[in-house]
Amino acid sequence: MNVSIIGTGYVGLSTAAGLASKGHRVICVDKDPSKINAVKAGKSHFYEEGIEEALAMALSKGLLEATMDTAYAVKNSDITFICVGTPSDDSGKINLDYIKDASAEVGIAMKGNQGHVVVVKSTVVPGTTETVILPILQKYSKNFGLCMNPEFLREGKALEDFLHPDRIVVGELDRKSGDALSKLYEGFGAPVIRTKLSAAEMIKYASNVFLASRISMINELGNICKKLGIDVYDVANAIGRDKRIGPHFLEAGAGFGGSCFPKDVSALQHRAEEIGCETGMMEQILKTNASQRRVLVELLKKKTSIKGKKIAVLGLAFKEDTDDIRESPAIDIIEMLKKEGASVYAYDPKAADNMKRIYPEVTYCSVADALKDAEACLILAKWKEFSSLTDRDFAAMKGRIIIEAKKVLDASKVKDFEGICW
Ligand code: UDX
Repeated sequence: MNVSIIGTGYVGLSTAAGLASKGHRVICVDKDPSKINAVKAGKSHFYEEGIEEALAMALSKGLLEATMDTAYAVKNSDITFICVGTPSDDSGKINLDYIKDASAEVGIAMKGNQGHVVVVKSTVVPGTTETVILPILQKYSKNFGLCMNPEFLREGKALEDFLHPDRIVVGELDRKSGDALSKLYEGFGAPVIRTKLSAAEMIKYASNVFLASRISMINELGNICKKLGIDVYDVANAIGRDKRIGPHFLEAGAGFGGSCFPKDVSALQHRAEEIGCETGMMEQILKTNASQRRVLVELLKKKTSIKGKKIAVLGLAFKEDTDDIRESPAIDIIEMLKKEGASVYAYDPKAADNMKRIYPEVTYCSVADALKDAEACLILAKWKEFSSLTDRDFAAMKGRIIIEAKKVLDASKVKDFEGICW
C-alpha cells in the first residue's frame, strides 16, 4: 500500500522503516528540513537500534521518500499516519497544538480525494480523535476514513516492537476505515483488536499506566526489601513466575523516565479529574517514582559526605539503548548531587551530548576518567558495556562506594557494590 507519515520522531520513523521493510511505499513528512534531509540520506536524527539500516534498505528499494510537502504526501498515498508529538504542559495536561495543525494540513490535502484513511498514532486522551481531530478533518474534506492506532514501541527497540507486536489495536470510526488499516497489518502475525476510537486511545494509556504502576510497586517493595536485607530481584523472579503476575516490568531501580510513562500518567490523571474521577493510584505512581530518585542519593549520603567530592555517574539516558534523556532519573540525581556540593563526572555511550545541554557544568568523560579518584560511583542506566566493568576499573576510585540503580554489574567481576533495592 502507499502510506504517508506525518512526523519523523521515533514513532513516525520506526513506523516508516517498519512498513517499508514489509514492502509498503512510504512517504515521510516533517516541518524540519534537517530531519527530512536525514531521512533522504538514510539517517535518523536520534539513536535507535537498526533504524538506519532499515531506512537505507528502504531507500535502496525505492520504497521511501521524504518531503516537507504534506499535500504531496497525502495525494500520493492511500493512508496517512499522524505521528506528531503530544507533549504535556506544566500542569500535566496534554498539548494538542501539533496534532491540530497536522490534522488541518491533512484535511486540506485530502480535499477532493475519495476514501483516504487518516490514522492517528500520536498518543491522545480518550475522545480526542472523535471530538477534536474528526471535526478539523471534516472542516476541509468529506468521504475519508479515520482510525486510531496506538503505538506500543519501546525506545531503543522500536523497530523490533513495530515488526513483532503482541497485538495491534485498530480503533475505527466505521467498519470500512478499520478494514483498510487492518489490511495494512496483514502478515504481522499478531492479533488485531478492533474497537471504537476512544477505546483505542484508552488502551494506550491503560497499558502505560499499568506498566508504570508495576514499576512504582516493585520500587516500593524494593525499598522495604533493602531495609530488611532482602534482594528484591529474588522476590521479583519468584513472583514473576506466577502466571497471574508475569515476569516483565519488575526491575526495581531509580524509577521510570522517558517520553511516555510520566507524560501519559499525568495526562490521563488530568483528564480523569476533569470528568470527576478519583486518581489516587495514578497520583501515587508518580509520587513513588519521584521519591525513588531521592532514595538513591539518601543511600549515598548515609555512606559518605559528598560535599566537595568527585562522584562518577555512569548512564545518563532514561534507560539503556537510547540517547533520550527526557525525564531521565539522571537529571534529578545530578541536580541533587550538585545541590549537595558534589563535583559530577559523567559518562554515557550515547546521551552525553543531550545531557550537556541541561548541565554544561558537569564533566563529561570516559568511564576511566569518571572513576579515577572518585569517592563514589552511581550506575543509573543498564548499558550492556557496564556489565564488563571489573574490580580493576573500580580500583582507580578513591573511595569504594558503588551503587547501581538496576542490576547491571557482574558480581563475578566486581566485589562490594550494592543496588538501591538490594
Ligand atoms: C514505553 C512503553 O513501554 C511503550 O509501549 C510506549 O508506548 C512508549 O513508552 P519506553 O518509554 O521507550 O516505552 O521505555 P520502557 O522500556 O517501557 O521503559 C520506561 C521506563 O521504565 C524506563 O525509564 C525504564 O528504565 C523503566 N523501567 C522499565 C523500570 O524501571 N523497570 C522495569 O522493570 C521496566
